[in-house]
Amino acid sequence: MTTELIDTLDVRTVKAQFPLLATTIDDAPIHYLDSANSAQKPHAVLDAMTRFNETTYAPINRSAYRLAAQATDAYEQARAKVAGFVNAASPDEIVFTKNATEAMNLVAQAWGRANLRAGDAVVLSHLEHHANIVPWHLLAAELGIELRWIPLTDDGRLDLTDLDRLVDGAKVVSVTAMSNVLGTLTPVTELCAAAHRAGALAVVDACQFVPHNATDVQAWGADFAAFSSHKMCGPSGIGALWGRAELLEATPPFLGGGNMIADVRLDGFTSAPVPAKFEAGTPPITEAIGFGAAVDFMNGLGMDAVRAHELELTSYALETLEARFGDEITIHGPRRLDVRGGVLSFALRDLHPHDVSQVLDQRNVCIRAGHHCAKPLMKLLGVAATARASFYVYNDRDDVDALADALDSASDIFGL
Ligand SMILES: Cc1ncc(COP(=O)(O)O)c(C=O)c1O
Repeated sequence: MTTELIDTLDVRTVKAQFPLLATTIDDAPIHYLDSANSAQKPHAVLDAMTRFNETTYAPINRSAYRLAAQATDAYEQARAKVAGFVNAASPDEIVFTKNATEAMNLVAQAWGRANLRAGDAVVLSHLEHHANIVPWHLLAAELGIELRWIPLTDDGRLDLTDLDRLVDGAKVVSVTAMSNVLGTLTPVTELCAAAHRAGALAVVDACQFVPHNATDVQAWGADFAAFSSHKMCGPSGIGALWGRAELLEATPPFLGGGNMIADVRLDGFTSAPVPAKFEAGTPPITEAIGFGAAVDFMNGLGMDAVRAHELELTSYALETLEARFGDEITIHGPRRLDVRGGVLSFALRDLHPHDVSQVLDQRNVCIRAGHHCAKPLMKLLGVAATARASFYVYNDRDDVDALADALDSASDIFGL
């Protein structure tokens, strides 16, 4: 079957910009449906990194020669691009980290350790990725803080019935903007407002949201937000923490070493201003250039068009899978498209997701099978793992059809 579903993105043109997607395995095309895990990279990103390495690479922030100044400028331009992408008030509100996980740990370890005391409460939700759970568990073990959990509705949305009671007296509300398992889009603005009414800090795990939606951290009214480059067509090895300037100023450093200091003496040190205060050591320089190029690439597509494309594809996928497999397939998460992104976690009868994934792999359909780093959510769903297909800008109806055909063959192989 051929494609052309969309007037929002010209997927054929978009896809042609991704060299990996032009390759084959066993002479057949690849259907890459694992972008919620990590996205493929377009020429524009790969070329920007190669060009930088070949023409401009030098250590940043240290050396006095012109090449180093150019490299430093390029690194700071990348920061400005990332800041613009999420509508930060200033580039200095963007701290480059290794990934979203490190950004969440920065909030918990640096802000949390300085500001939380035994008995303080941190509110999380049952949707969270381990990156927004384990850093708080670490702190709970160290400081004796209490963790509270926003429950879910039957269709996998946050159940906010008791929100005011849950946040009452809390010091932090830290919630995902989009679930990597169910695709659920959460009411971030409402959550941030509830956090602030209670006098709590509002932290957003924006790792799945930022690559797929126009993001405005100021409109959210959030205090911190974390995201990763590799999920938005940029390189791995770099992510970002956005934080309100005055909060970053007031937060002590996370890691110590070079680059993050203004002065070091035998009896102590003075931190550099933000954001360098949080960027100890040599940062991922070329990766920052790639991150900036990924921002340019996504802006070139237009984030509203990206969201519209994913809405359309998700709708097609839900209809196709339900029509083909009926009661044999369980698709987790909200059926309402306005509150879900392009992530489909499912179970085909009682087949183990790893078996499903292996059969799909025989047809070059790449999906993720596992607990998706969300074990508490798996427990709530009553499963050990799910199979998950996730969509991005280079996916089209052919990919969904290939998924459905491959699931048919999984049914045949396992004799359903
Ligand atoms: C919702 C969510 N938060 C955080 C992370 C962690 O991202 P990273 O592995 O890039 O640190 C992920 C990764 O899958 C995620 O989906």
